Amino acid sequence: MTIAILGTGNMGSGLASRLGGKAVLGSRNPKDGQLSYADAVAKADIVVLALPYDAALEAAATLNLAGKVVVDMTNPVKEDFSGLRLGTTTSAAEEIQKAAPEAKVVKAFNTIFAGVFAAPRSETAKVPVFVAGNDEAAVQQVADLAVEAGFGAETAGGLDAARFIEPVGMLNIRFGYGLGKGTSIAPAWVKVAA
Ligand SMILES: NC(=O)c1ccc[n+]([C@@H]2O[C@H](COP(=O)([O-])OP(=O)(O)OC[C@H]3O[C@@H](n4cnc5c(N)ncnc54)[C@H](OP(=O)(O)O)[C@@H]3O)[C@@H](O)[C@H]2O)c1
Repeated sequence: MTIAILGTGNMGSGLASRLGGKAVLGSRNPKDGQLSYADAVAKADIVVLALPYDAALEAAATLNLAGKVVVDMTNPVKEDFSGLRLGTTTSAAEEIQKAAPEAKVVKAFNTIFAGVFAAPRSETAKVPVFVAGNDEAAVQQVADLAVEAGFGAETAGGLDAARFIEPVGMLNIRFGYGLGKGTSIAPAWVKVAA
C-alpha cells in the first residue's frame, strides 16, 4: 500500500515522520526526494491531502484521484479562526468528495494538532483519530494508517459524520489557542462504567 502525502507543511511533515519515511511526499515545489502532486498521486493507493481547505478542493478537482483512497484532514476554518466556513448540512470532506466523485474520500486526522505528531508514540497510542467515509474498506485502510502512525482509531460511519468531526476539530482549536491550553492536547471519546 503506497501512501502519498500532498503538502509538506506542519501536518504533512508530521504525519510523514510518524510513518518513518514510508510515504511519498508531494509538493508544489518538490525538493530532494519529493514529487509533484500529480506524480505522487500516480504512485499511490492512499493520498493524504495535507493542504489548506481551498488547496485540497483544488487538488480534488484537478488531480486524477479516481479509485484512490483520499484522506481529508482539513479544518475549513475562517481566516480569523473564529469558526468554520461551512458545516451542519455539509462538510469539507463532502465538498472534497463532490469535487472528486470517483475517489474514496475519508475524513481523518483533523482533530490531531501537528505538534502532537512530535510526541512520543506512547503518549498517542490511545489518542483517537476519528475516521469516517462511505467506503468501508477505505475507512478500514485509513484506520490502519492511523494505528501505523501511532494513534488509536475511532470509526464514525459514513462521510456525513465529517459534519460532526470537523466541529470537534474547531473545538480543539478553541481549547488550544482561544482558551490557552496549547497544542499538546487532543479530543478523545471515553466509555464510563455504568
Ligand atoms: N496545523 C495543525 O495543527 C492542524 C491540525 C489539524 C488539521 N489541520 C489541517 O491540515 C491541513 C494542513 O495544515 P498545516 O498546518 O500542515 O498547514 P501548513 O503548514 O500551512 O502546510 C500546508 C501545505 O500545503 C501546501 N499548499 C498547497 N497550496 C497551498 C496554498 N495555497 N497555501 C498554503 N499552502 C499550500 C504547502 O505544501 P507544499 O508547498 O509542499 O506543496 C504547505 O506547506 C489544513 O487543512 C488544516 O486545517 C492542521
